[in-house]
Amino acid sequence: MSASNLLSHRRVLSGMRPTGQLHLGNYHGALRNWVDLQHQYDCYFFVADWHALTTGYEDTTKLEEHVWDMVIDWLGAGLDPEKCTLFIQSRVPEHAELHLLLSMVTPLGWLERVPTYKDQQEQLREKDLATYGFLGYPLLQSADILLYRPKYVPVGEDQVAHVEITREVARRFNHLYGRGPAFEAAAAAALQRAGAEGAERLKKWRKAWQQKGEAESRSRAQAWLEAAALDAAEKECLAGWLDGSGRAILPEPEVLLTATPKVPGLDGRKMSKSYGNTIGLREDPDNVTKKLRAMQTDPARVRRTDVGDPDKCPVFDLHRVYSTPATQAEVAQGCRSAGIGCIDCKQPLIEAVVTEIRGIRARSAEFAANPARLRSIIDNGCERARVVANETMHEVRSAMGLGFK
Ligand code: TRP
Ligand code: SF4
Repeated sequence: MSASNLLSHRRVLSGMRPTGQLHLGNYHGALRNWVDLQHQYDCYFFVADWHALTTGYEDTTKLEEHVWDMVIDWLGAGLDPEKCTLFIQSRVPEHAELHLLLSMVTPLGWLERVPTYKDQQEQLREKDLATYGFLGYPLLQSADILLYRPKYVPVGEDQVAHVEITREVARRFNHLYGRGPAFEAAAAAALQRAGAEGAERLKKWRKAWQQKGEAESRSRAQAWLEAAALDAAEKECLAGWLDGSGRAILPEPEVLLTATPKVPGLDGRKMSKSYGNTIGLREDPDNVTKKLRAMQTDPARVRRTDVGDPDKCPVFDLHRVYSTPATQAEVAQGCRSAGIGCIDCKQPLIEAVVTEIRGIRARSAEFAANPARLRSIIDNGCERARVVANETMHEVRSAMGLGFK
């Protein structure tokens, strides 16, 4: 077994649908977290342009613009192409190939039961989403993920169901294709390498677990494996043999849940492009200042002399994102006692937001002014992604009997 079978313990993968220029909600809900992760893991981040087509297939005139705008925002926000791999889904056609192959083994019911399926169809009633592509949305996402065999997938709460179905699909795939003669031979060889005594104990534990369901024996065997003087591929193989799950050709990834702070839009509803209540990541500071000055406050606080309730004020939700606990406490106290006016309250917030946006805006402008550089960053990223994707596809094809030339 090659080393590439291994779950990449430090690999992280995530994607975003290109919706055009990003806003503060996107930034605090996902992007900021990606920027942190790039320092800790081997990160792969991609533009899910095919996913954009699942709901936006009718009008694709803005697709390309949205793709590049998003890449510019990523770079502006601090994703560093030296530290992580940035690429575009449609430039790595292996995503489509894996999607197709996985579709062969995925029961329709699994897809129909994903909560976002019916929800989104209802929410986006003006669009005809009774399409094959839309039903397959979570499976395309599964292919996106499994292709890179990541340990973690950083996503918000709304995407957890998609990672869950990804794990189920991987399990089913491994069960179907990970248990052939090649696996049996690899397991036998690994057992030999475990030594006579080790092999005896493993066999005993395996029997107790598989035939009598003794979880205790399974844990013992796993602990033994963990400490054994075997290489990682051998350990992984024996772990599959122990459970009867076979070889993990496509290891099951884990969610890395992103803490998503509430980012209210200017009208107090959740910040969202479709509500037209956003502050863009690259917006002009004067504009941002104007927008924040006009932002909805606690509706009960009409006059300067009225007391307010920060818990009913969207501006205070922004303080929760941007201000220190000390500032928050001060502002809350001033609001409750009518000691400060709303404009005073907003002032430190305006400064914090504008400072943040200034940095992002300056970096974005450099990239926006240099399309050649942008192209080369993405060319590079796509190339790196394809190397990994090809390794996986090689194994997937041969496990499925498609390895012939
Ligand atoms: N569905 C995700 C979203 O709407 C985007 C996405 C597509 C994704 N493929 C992915 C996220 C793979 C994580 C991993 O936000
Ligand atoms: Fe909201 Fe601040 Fe005005 Fe209170 S003082 S209502 S928290 S903007």
